[in-house]
Amino acid sequence: MESALDYHTARALLEWQVELGATEAILDAPLDRYEAPIKAEKPKVTSEVAALAPVATAVDPVQVAKQMAAKAGDLEALHAAMAAFEHCDLKRGARNLVFSDGNPAARVMIIGEAPGRDEDREGKPFVGRAGQLLDKMLGAIEMGRAHDMSSQSVYITNVLPWRPPQNRDPEAIEIQMLLPFLKRHVEIVAPDVIVLMGNIACQAVLDRRGITRLRGNWVEALGKPVLPMFHPAYLLRQSHAKREAWADLLSLKAKLRELS
Ligand code: URA
Repeated sequence: MESALDYHTARALLEWQVELGATEAILDAPLDRYEAPIKAEKPKVTSEVAALAPVATAVDPVQVAKQMAAKAGDLEALHAAMAAFEHCDLKRGARNLVFSDGNPAARVMIIGEAPGRDEDREGKPFVGRAGQLLDKMLGAIEMGRAHDMSSQSVYITNVLPWRPPQNRDPEAIEIQMLLPFLKRHVEIVAPDVIVLMGNIACQAVLDRRGITRLRGNWVEALGKPVLPMFHPAYLLRQSHAKREAWADLLSLKAKLRELS
C-alpha cells in the first residue's frame, strides 16, 4: 500500500506503537471495528459436540513457574526456562529478557526491580543512569560487577526479567509468577549475602514494603543475610539519602568481613 508518510515519521510512529506494547502487525491497513458488521451469533453447542470438546483447564502460572524453575540445574538452564515461560504478558512487550550481569561466583547478589528502557535495549540489568550510580557506589567500597575476584565482585539480577510498559510498577501477580525463578536464581548462585534495591525487591523477597524503615537493617530471607537499601534511581532524585546509602555500603563491607 502506498503510504503518505515519509520514512522518518512512519518509523517514529512505529517505534511509538512498539513502546506502547504493540509488537505484532495484524493487518496491512487500519480497521475501524465500530464500523465492522456485528458478528453472527455463536452457534448453540449441542450436547454431542460438547462431549467431544476438550475440557478447558485453568493453568496456574505460579505452579508452572515453580515446576520450570525447579528443573533448572544451572544458570543456563534457568535462563532457558525463563525464556520458555509464556504466562507473563510483559514478555510480549519487551525487546529482551534481562537475566543478569556480573560474576556468578560473587559473594554478593544484588536484586533490583525490573529493566528500564536502557536495560531492555541492551539485555543487561542496571546499565542506565541508575546503573551507573550503582557502579559508582560499588566502586566506593572497592567492589563491582566487572571484578574477577569473587570477594570483590557482585552478581546482579532483577525481580522481573522483562520491562513493564512505561516503567510502571510491577503488578502483584507478575511478581508472584516470576518469584519461583528468582528463588531458584538465588539457590544456584548461592551468594553469601543479598542486597535488595528498593521497595519492589523488598516486596518480592520479604513480602514487606517501606524501604525508609527497612533499609540498613539486616534480615534473614531465602536462607541468606539480606540487606535492603535505597534504590539508586531514588538516590538520583533524593541525593540527601546518599548518606544512608553510604552507611549501608559500609555495613555490607563489614558483613562480608564478618562472614569470611
Ligand atoms: N532499575 C532496576 O531496578 N533494575 C534495572 O535493571 C534497572 C533499573
